[in-house]
Amino acid sequence: MKILLTGAAGFIGGRVWSALRDAGHEVVGVDAMLPAAHGPGAQVPSDCRTLDIRDASALAPLLDGVDAVCHQAAMVGAGVNAADAPAYGSHNDFGTTVLLAEMFAAGVGRLVLASSMVVYGQGRYDCPEHGPVEPAPRTRADLDAGVFEHRCPQCGSLVEWRLVDEDAPLRPRSLYAASKTAQEHYALAWAEATGGTVTALRYHNVYGPYMPRDTPYSGVAAIFRSELESGDVPRVFEDGGQMRDFVHVDDVAAANVAAVQSGPDGFAAFNVCSGRPISIMEVAAELCEARGEAPPVVTGQYRSGDVRHIVADPARAADVLGFRAAVDPRDGLREFAFAPLRT
Ligand code: UD1
Repeated sequence: MKILLTGAAGFIGGRVWSALRDAGHEVVGVDAMLPAAHGPGAQVPSDCRTLDIRDASALAPLLDGVDAVCHQAAMVGAGVNAADAPAYGSHNDFGTTVLLAEMFAAGVGRLVLASSMVVYGQGRYDCPEHGPVEPAPRTRADLDAGVFEHRCPQCGSLVEWRLVDEDAPLRPRSLYAASKTAQEHYALAWAEATGGTVTALRYHNVYGPYMPRDTPYSGVAAIFRSELESGDVPRVFEDGGQMRDFVHVDDVAAANVAAVQSGPDGFAAFNVCSGRPISIMEVAAELCEARGEAPPVVTGQYRSGDVRHIVADPARAADVLGFRAAVDPRDGLREFAFAPLRT
């Protein structure tokens, strides 16, 4: 197949490009080379075109003869403050609407969309007494007292996390999450209006070689890794019991290949995860141990707006796309402890 890949110079896009090529596809790679994602003065890879997808007239000719679009380009992170909103809306949402319109004009009917676990908000929880509940927001009094778990909105008991599947309600809680949810909604509307196929891949915590270094937009794996490299000890917030699913970038690339080749008709969304939950304390400990450093420090500090647990159900991606992650995070993180980072 001939595939237009957006965000092709990024940490994830670059690996998706290699995986698509290895699977025998012809790839046209484009990237806007945003300084926030690539660092100031980053070089565009020689086979990648510099293109902002919001520029419809530049995008249109590249869609000629394309069978599918794999859309990785996005502003990432959570959003630092309210002033970031126009950038998320413009790059992620306006950019996607331009792409969808130009795909329709060019007769391209298949889209693989990089989405995120952040569309789920704070995850899913069970109360021992009341079963599945939408937990109450964590209070400052609880957090200050070191009570980090959510409470049941009915009885106040501490609730337990459970796996989040793709039918969970979408509850975006950050600018980035709002923009990813809107991308999915635009893509769903496009699929219904045009008869096109959209496979939205909800990435969980992605890590791996050439992850960008610590920036205000980085996830925790890059933060811990950068701390270790500069001789600091990783600082684990809350009690370290926050549960996540860390998925290796090569598995994310494999999920994209599977989605390009076998996404079901219409709109469908899938968790892209390892299926092996891990706590933030374990993530830090694996990295420290692999590097032979002192164990991480648990600070008890908390960040307002942080999600306590978000752990993915991998079943649907396995059943429908045949995607199963190959890398166990405990192995992958030990390798990541020494992997090169993007400067
Ligand atoms: C992160 C991203 C989100 C992305 C998702 C999936 C950010 C801010 N969030 O969500 O946009 O879609 O991964 O890839 O980029 N922590 C520490 N010490 C630190 C920093 C963080 O203990 O120095 C803890 C946090 O309190 C949190 C956990 O690590 O409990 C994860 O933090 P982080 O990676 O920033 O956010 P996610 O919610 O996992």
